[in-house]
Amino acid sequence: MNAQPSRARLAVLISGRGRNLIALHEAIQAGHIAADLVCVLSNEPDAGGLRYARDTGLPAVVVPHRAFPDRATFDAAIAHALQAHRPDIIALAGFMRILTPAFVEAHAGRLLNIHPSLLPKHKGLHTHEAVLAAGDVEHGATVHFVTAQLDGGPAIIQGRFTVDPQDDAQALAARVLQQVELKIYPQAVAWMARGELAFDGGRTRFRGQPLDRPLGLDDLEPPFR
Ligand code: GRF
Repeated sequence: MNAQPSRARLAVLISGRGRNLIALHEAIQAGHIAADLVCVLSNEPDAGGLRYARDTGLPAVVVPHRAFPDRATFDAAIAHALQAHRPDIIALAGFMRILTPAFVEAHAGRLLNIHPSLLPKHKGLHTHEAVLAAGDVEHGATVHFVTAQLDGGPAIIQGRFTVDPQDDAQALAARVLQQVELKIYPQAVAWMARGELAFDGGRTRFRGQPLDRPLGLDDLEPPFR
């Protein structure tokens, strides 16, 4: 019998409720992502996503950032905790710490993040408020490779929608999560697990071709639509 093609090993880093973690895990359980979720790591001991991990039997580890004197030692502790699980893909999912260049370089090409804006617009926090303040017509989210520049890595896929004049920041956050994030992140990780995405010289390669613009909701495969 042919050996099972080796499945990618996925680690997910969280700080909060872990709604993207849950979407990734459910897509794996449904057979839509050829990966195994080998570790959930949180910097917050009381993160809701940890409860989900423990309830569903996922290996969970807490690396509390407040216990470390600086970012470099915190990041070294994360790297140490992760290496035991040998992840091929590390997905930041609501992870609210800024990683050091040393950590990012050591994991270059395996580190993904989801950011709730149409990057490069609105890097950083409070993106929904920024969209309203700027009067943007469109809003959405971006999955990108992580580089040392905060929210600056090459995009992989974006999803967008037209901002409704009635929307306030809370409504936008919910729409970005439900209509975009929970679709594009599982899709991006599925492509990564199949070896169809690469971080190459600062650009994203998809199925061997450099992307000159991010993929979009139209590129979602059926299980993720
Ligand atoms: C998500 O809505 C996303 O915008 C960003 O962090 C927010 C909270 O995520 N990644 P979670 O519910 O803690 O996973």
